[in-house]
Amino acid sequence: EVWNPNGKYRVVSTKPMPGTRWINLLIEQDCRVEICTQKKTILSVEDIIALIGDKCDGVIGQLTEDWGETLFAALSRAGGKAFSNMAVGYNNVDVNAANKYGIAVGNTPGVLTETTAELAASLSLAAARRIVEADEFMRAGLYDGWLPNLFVGNLLKGQTVGVIGAGRIGSAYARMMQVILLSKSPDVVFSSILGTYGQFLKANGEQPVTWKRASSMDEVLREADVISLHPVLDKTTYHLINKERLATMKKEAILVNCSRGPVIDEVALVEHLKQNPMFRVGLDVFEDEPYMKPGLSEMKNAIVVPHIASASKWTREGMATLAALNVLGKIKGYPIWGNPNQ
Ligand code: DGY
Repeated sequence: EVWNPNGKYRVVSTKPMPGTRWINLLIEQDCRVEICTQKKTILSVEDIIALIGDKCDGVIGQLTEDWGETLFAALSRAGGKAFSNMAVGYNNVDVNAANKYGIAVGNTPGVLTETTAELAASLSLAAARRIVEADEFMRAGLYDGWLPNLFVGNLLKGQTVGVIGAGRIGSAYARMMQVILLSKSPDVVFSSILGTYGQFLKANGEQPVTWKRASSMDEVLREADVISLHPVLDKTTYHLINKERLATMKKEAILVNCSRGPVIDEVALVEHLKQNPMFRVGLDVFEDEPYMKPGLSEMKNAIVVPHIASASKWTREGMATLAALNVLGKIKGYPIWGNPNQ
């Protein structure tokens, strides 16, 4: 799909994105916008090289794509200056390779904070109250009357919530959960792992909620009833939640992951779910997306959704707009909003 065919700068989006604001702002600034409408969900490196072609000023890409040396080299050969991920996470982007080719990289922080935190809170509540299991039961026609023991779950009020990765999203989640827990300090426990924004808040003496800072992540795992994971994925957080750490958690704990799949060792998790039927998880992300590790889909104590934490209309339009602004910024020499290099 091509917009403004005679535009001076060629900007490619590897996927259609919500809304038209992002397209309009590129067009207004003399860009020809090309949107890939291939049916295939995940584009290969070869597909993207073909999209980049011989002349391309900037690309808006997705977290499912492998933006490494090969793609940045291709973009550089086509005269490209900018790439933006339409995501806040950029573990799919080799920023060093982009720097090597002089290509600016952008991401989309901020606009997805509350939306993502809302999904983490929804999964926490849904897991606590077994909403998905109960829904399946109704639809299967199995409900034949009220029973004292039917789908008994956990009351969250007064429980301890743990946040691992207390950055923008983790802090927003904590704020939401604090209302649900009707908690006074110190019901909300933060781990010692802070995102960069968490450090920023701390450096500025701000505390987003009344919070008790745990002395270690292991304390959070041991003591919290509901734990939500919000770290970035890098070498230090790969399989952060492994067999040993799962074993230290409460038998009836709830674990929520809206960050990146590989933060949890999913094979170990499936085994833990099998051994501990009262342990529940709410997962938005998976180790080998779009696949789930064998056995996970059969577990009644797991709620699984397809990486939709940022999927509100407002947020997705905001992400698309921000991604377009990032690319345009570099082409036109404006400052880049979301820039992991800064
Ligand atoms: C992100 O932005 O990193 C999410 O995973 C997708 O919205």
